[in-house]
Amino acid sequence: MQYFFILGRENLLSLAEIESVLIRLELKAKLIAKETDFAIFDFEEKLDETLMMAQLAGTIKIGRVVNQSRNITVQALLDLIPEKETKVIFGISCYNAKLPINNLAKQLKNKLKDLDKNARFVPAGESALSSAHVTKNKLIEKGVEIVIMKSKETFFVGKTLAVQDFEKFSHFDYDRPARDTKSGMLPPKLAQMMLNLAEDSEQKCLLDPFCGSGTVLQQAIFLGYEQVIGSDLSETAVRDTATNLHWLEKELNKKINFKATKCDIKNLTSIVKPESISAIVTEPDLGPALRGHENDKELRENIQNLRDFYRVVFSQINSLLAPGRPAVIVVPEIKMRGKTYKFEINQILPPELKIAGHWQYARKDQRIIRNIYKFIKRKQ
Ligand SMILES: C[S@@+](CC[C@H](N)C(=O)[O-])C[C@H]1O[C@@H](n2cnc3c(N)ncnc32)[C@H](O)[C@@H]1O
Repeated sequence: MQYFFILGRENLLSLAEIESVLIRLELKAKLIAKETDFAIFDFEEKLDETLMMAQLAGTIKIGRVVNQSRNITVQALLDLIPEKETKVIFGISCYNAKLPINNLAKQLKNKLKDLDKNARFVPAGESALSSAHVTKNKLIEKGVEIVIMKSKETFFVGKTLAVQDFEKFSHFDYDRPARDTKSGMLPPKLAQMMLNLAEDSEQKCLLDPFCGSGTVLQQAIFLGYEQVIGSDLSETAVRDTATNLHWLEKELNKKINFKATKCDIKNLTSIVKPESISAIVTEPDLGPALRGHENDKELRENIQNLRDFYRVVFSQINSLLAPGRPAVIVVPEIKMRGKTYKFEINQILPPELKIAGHWQYARKDQRIIRNIYKFIKRKQ
C-alpha cells in the first residue's frame, strides 16, 4: 500500500523524522519516490495515518496513493471521488508539477454533473491547498483533497487522509504562560523532530540540560515519555519550565512525572547519576545574538568560546547517557557576509560518542545556523 507524505520546509529533516518514526513504531515501509515537497513509501500493511500524524512534526499531510501514470486524465481524478455522495466538495493540490488545476477542476465538475452529482470546487490560490484550507473546508471528512505529485516521469495521484494539527502546535507554543523570547525558544516542531530523530523506543527518561522554558520536555510528554528532567543555569528558566509543565498538566488533565533543577551543565554529573539517562535532546546556548556589524575577529572569538563550551557539553552528555543510548543536539555555526564560521566537532567529541546523523535547520538570511547532530554512546 502506497502512502504519500507532504514534507515541511526542512524536507531532509522531515524525511529523516519519518524514517525514525517508522523504526520506532516497527512499521515496515520502503521509500519509492522522493522530491523536495514529498516522499512516497510502500507499506507492508495498512497505515494508521492519524497515529502516524500525531507523532510527526515535519510532515504537513499524509494520504493514500490511488493510482500512478505517465499523464493526468480526468478519469484518474474521478476515481478519487467518493461514490456514494451526491454532493461533492473537492480540492486539487499539485506538487512538483505545473498543471492547469482550474481547468482540470472544471472538466471534473462536468463529468460529475453527467453522473448527477453536484460538485463544489475549493480553489487553492497557489498550486496546493494549505493544511488549514483542507481542515477549514472539511475536505477529509466531507469531501476529498486530490493530490497530484510528479516524480521523474510518473504522476502519483492520491487523496489526503490526515493533515498536521497546526492549531495544536500553535496553542502549545503561543498560549503557554511562560515564554522567554529573549534567550531564544526552540520551535516546538523542531523540538519534536529532534525527539523523533533520537529513535528512542524505550521512552523512559528524557533529559534536556538547557531546558529554557521547557519546549523539549513538553513535546516529549506528547510523544509518550514516562519521565522528563530539565535543568538550566538560569533560575528564571527553571521556574518557566515548571510553570509551563504545570499548565500542561491542567491542559492534558494528567499528572506529569517531571523534575526541573537549576544547574550549570558543568556540574550536572554531580546531581544526575552518571549513565542513568535513556535519551538527551537539547538546544544549548548558541552564543550571543548577532546584529550584523560584528567583525571577523569577534566572530572567530565567538566560535572559539562556543568550541570550549561544547567540549564541556559533550563530555557531560557522554557521562550522563547510558551506553547505547542517543543524544540529539543543536550545534551552531555562523554565516555572515558570505563566510561560514564553525568549529570542528570531531576535535572535541569524546571517543565514546559516535555521530549517527547530521541535518541543517536554517531559515533564509539567518546568521546563526542550527546543525542538528545525532550521537549514539558506544556500548564499549
Ligand atoms: C536556547 S535556550 C534553550 C531553549 C529551550 N530549549 C526552549 O525552547 O525554551 C538555552 C538555555 O541555555 C541556558 N544556559 C546557558 N548556559 C548554560 C550552562 N552553562 N548550563 C546550563 N544552562 C545554560 C540558558 O539559560 C538558556 O535557557
